[in-house]
Amino acid sequence: MARSIVSIINGRPAEGPAAGVVDSPNPSRLTDVVAEVTLADAGTFAAACAAAKRAQPLWADIPAPVRGRTVAAIGRIVEANKEALARLVTRELGKPYPEALGEVQEIIDTCDFFLGEGRRLYGQTVPSEMPDKQLFTFRVPVGTAAVVTAGNFPVAVPSWYVIPALVTGNTVVWKPAEYAAASAMALFELIQAAGLPDGVMNIVFADGPATFGGLEQALRAGTLDKIGFTGSTAVGARIGELAGRHLQSPCLELGGKNPMVVTPDADLELAVEGALFSGFGTAGQRCTSLGTVIVHESVHDEFLAQFAAAVSAAAVGDPAQDVLYGPMLDQKFADRFEEYLGWIQPHHKVLGSSAVGRITGASPRAGFVGDPEAGIFYHPTIADGVQPDDDLFRQETFGPIVSVTTYTGFDEAITLANAPGYGLSASIYTNNPREVFGFRRGISAGMVSVNNSTSGAEAHLPFGGNGKSGNGSRQSGVWVLDQFTRWQSMNWDYSGRLQKAQMDVAEITADLDFRLED
Ligand code: UN1
Repeated sequence: MARSIVSIINGRPAEGPAAGVVDSPNPSRLTDVVAEVTLADAGTFAAACAAAKRAQPLWADIPAPVRGRTVAAIGRIVEANKEALARLVTRELGKPYPEALGEVQEIIDTCDFFLGEGRRLYGQTVPSEMPDKQLFTFRVPVGTAAVVTAGNFPVAVPSWYVIPALVTGNTVVWKPAEYAAASAMALFELIQAAGLPDGVMNIVFADGPATFGGLEQALRAGTLDKIGFTGSTAVGARIGELAGRHLQSPCLELGGKNPMVVTPDADLELAVEGALFSGFGTAGQRCTSLGTVIVHESVHDEFLAQFAAAVSAAAVGDPAQDVLYGPMLDQKFADRFEEYLGWIQPHHKVLGSSAVGRITGASPRAGFVGDPEAGIFYHPTIADGVQPDDDLFRQETFGPIVSVTTYTGFDEAITLANAPGYGLSASIYTNNPREVFGFRRGISAGMVSVNNSTSGAEAHLPFGGNGKSGNGSRQSGVWVLDQFTRWQSMNWDYSGRLQKAQMDVAEITADLDFRLED
């Protein structure tokens, strides 16, 4: 049965005018409507920011170790509901169940990491250049954060923003993807069960224009201090522009065209396994999904044969069963994917399945698990012979398609890997340390994998990208603290007189002409 979902602001269902109702269907069985979602308008979004802003001083007054205990409680509550939440993620987003369990584990890991931060949040004591004076630094919360997230990681990625934001004393307005509303609401309820005061955590469902309008209103009203956004490069650029006009720097986690370099001495079997997982896992709908394999010409044919065989044999279908990947997240991703498939050109060699495009009764895939007509399923596609000028090489293609191209010299591999201008995740398969460190130095990506796929980052390393993948902000681990806190410095002069920095500083005379006698 479909669940009716509305925004929750200040602990209560939103009262603002509804901007429409949309369904969140199960993408592997479209007749199963998971939720009916009432969308808020821009004013309601801004009202949520205002409520969060009002709640923030009291939340910041709660001692950080107590906030850390709340994060610990969120982790425990999520853990106790791990299977139920994962089942919902599988039902609403079509993520295979083991992957959905991994996604929920990522929330627990994030809570495990940050529960202790409440007892750290270290500042420094710093020596002064003058006597009887002491210097200090403090981390202070930025205030109110709006967190706008995609639905491909409907609960894990939001937790990367929300958990550190809360532990550092911020209040939050979370705007999840509409097509992930039920999963988002479930996580929201689990977070609320930890006992957060009203207004500390708010959830608003809205479409893109209402969200953008709401962000703008809140920024103008001074009730929003930080935007965290995971989504497309195009929308990220607009959010960056909007935030910049208000002298803010958002935390942006955007698209990727993630390369995998396969060198002559690579373990090809391992590389094929990595390419299969990162190219087609989650139906290629991770920001870290593999874009292009850049394989040395001497091993190209062997790699391609093994890769094509592995992709052809992979189980696709019902995400509740044992499959590599399930459906597209939502119809809008299928529509866009159709456009990307239009970039396949006559000079590309297509492999990996019996057909290209949607899997149907008329366009079947051998070994499909379940009923392809029930949901939005796509054939996996490998496009070999892709050239640097091709759209398939240059643009992100969110979906189950992987390009393959070749290189001759190692420098050429790095140039090709950087060429699309993204910079999220990059991987190299090699057993040569010179190539490992040469790749690390030359690649523009924020995250580099060696003999591992482009996806599957651990939750306590800095996560984020450069170029078209982001503005250099990082999530996860200690690095995200700089997104949700600002440094405040304090100096305390207890000498009883005005000591002027740089001027009233004692000098010790050095003999700079001193030389050792030969
Ligand atoms: C994303 O697709 O936005 O590294 C995040 C990974 C996952 C997170 C992906 N842990 O693939």
